[in-house]
Amino acid sequence: MPASRSDALVLFGVTGDLAHKMIFPALYAMVKRGDLNVPIIGVALPKWNLERLHRRVTDSLKRSGGVDNGRALQHLLSLFKYVSGDYKDPNTFTAIKSALDKARRPAYYLAIPPSLFETVIKELGAAKLAEHARVIVEKPFGRDLASAKELNQVARSVFPEDSIFRIDHYLGKEAIMNILYFRFANSFLEPIWNRNYVSSVQITLSEDFGVQDRGPFYESAGCLRDVIENHLFQLVALLAMEPPADRDFGAVHREKANVFHAVRPLTRDDLVRGQYAGYRKEPGVAKNSDVETFCALRLFIDSWRWAGVPWYLRSGKYLAETATEILVELKAPPQRLFADSAPETSRANYLRFRLSPSAAIALAARVKLAGKEFVGEQRELFLLEQQLGEEAPYERLLGDAMAGDGALFTREDAVEAAWAVVDPVLKTHHRVHPYRRGTWGPKQADTIIASDGGWHNPGPKASG
Ligand code: BG6
Repeated sequence: MPASRSDALVLFGVTGDLAHKMIFPALYAMVKRGDLNVPIIGVALPKWNLERLHRRVTDSLKRSGGVDNGRALQHLLSLFKYVSGDYKDPNTFTAIKSALDKARRPAYYLAIPPSLFETVIKELGAAKLAEHARVIVEKPFGRDLASAKELNQVARSVFPEDSIFRIDHYLGKEAIMNILYFRFANSFLEPIWNRNYVSSVQITLSEDFGVQDRGPFYESAGCLRDVIENHLFQLVALLAMEPPADRDFGAVHREKANVFHAVRPLTRDDLVRGQYAGYRKEPGVAKNSDVETFCALRLFIDSWRWAGVPWYLRSGKYLAETATEILVELKAPPQRLFADSAPETSRANYLRFRLSPSAAIALAARVKLAGKEFVGEQRELFLLEQQLGEEAPYERLLGDAMAGDGALFTREDAVEAAWAVVDPVLKTHHRVHPYRRGTWGPKQADTIIASDGGWHNPGPKASG
């Protein structure tokens, strides 16, 4: 039986940054598609009136691509109500209850600082607002294994697991959903997708900008918590998982969690942390900060399929490009039949997934060059899979959560198993290495991958 749709959306943190940057544009897109027609109750501390909130929503849409449908905007604005109040004050929740009016199956979206998640969830429970409701929680879900466990426990004491939607917006991206599809909708990959043919896997999420106005957040998070333990780990899980037993998405969740259970906990020598020049002068950043804005690591999955295959993950701010790519490198042929069969300076065959800013999949193979000699070069068979009309991640995820579809959200067991991998290095690690802006991070990061052909640096274009 399909789950029933939420009949109201309560948006905690409606005056904040996340709502302005991501959620209002998603709600507008949903209204335009005809997918959203329920009351939206914005909640926050400032004593705003509805008119001020309307101005904020309109401003957000103008900044994020403009308003191309005046009627949709008016309709979206007409759905809003506003409740001002402290999240620690039970009166705020009484006001929410009366704003919910006849709604019986609300979805609560916590677009608020993580330190307030528990407070709000507990108050929802105490005010008897949790029955038949859903809760949508933004990352980071916890800041280490212990806090993630505690948060899960609090959330589970108020909501059943299938009513908790933990957002990792990477899972709402088409190119990332396609990893699951590409792996299991084609049979040619499976025979080589293991330790017998894959020599290493590397993933780079690089950004050519800094922490922007998020210095204080970054000080409490750092690159490992901000993008690696969640976004990049989700990619590892999709690439490494066993085929799910059936189409039920519970089966996908189970297989992903199994991957994290099989990842060897990190030690400090598996990790290189970096910090871009000038980070300590960013607003809200400590003058002697040791927080990493770059992180590169090597991990191993101790499973039948992946034993011995190194996985390299790297991310950083103020790097040379903004791009996310995966490179799955295959082993060289066992016999050197040709002069260039095992080239020292170039890569063996590989599969490359370009995830952003454009999406593509490339399979690199060697082909002979014309002439007497049996020598060739590596060329890419290239699939550009960018499509028009893709839903933006937040649009997709909000719509799914309100429809009760948990396929693209992270589950309690996987969240905890992922934290268990990084937990040992959250506190015990080497100091950050400084790096210049616009580079690929500190040179120490090259050492951990040197024996596997070095890092592949994604270029500005999808092909190449
Ligand atoms: C967010 C991080 O979760 O993901 C940011 O907090 C990062 O620091 C962003 O820039 C990257 O996401 P995307 O979708 O822009 O690649």
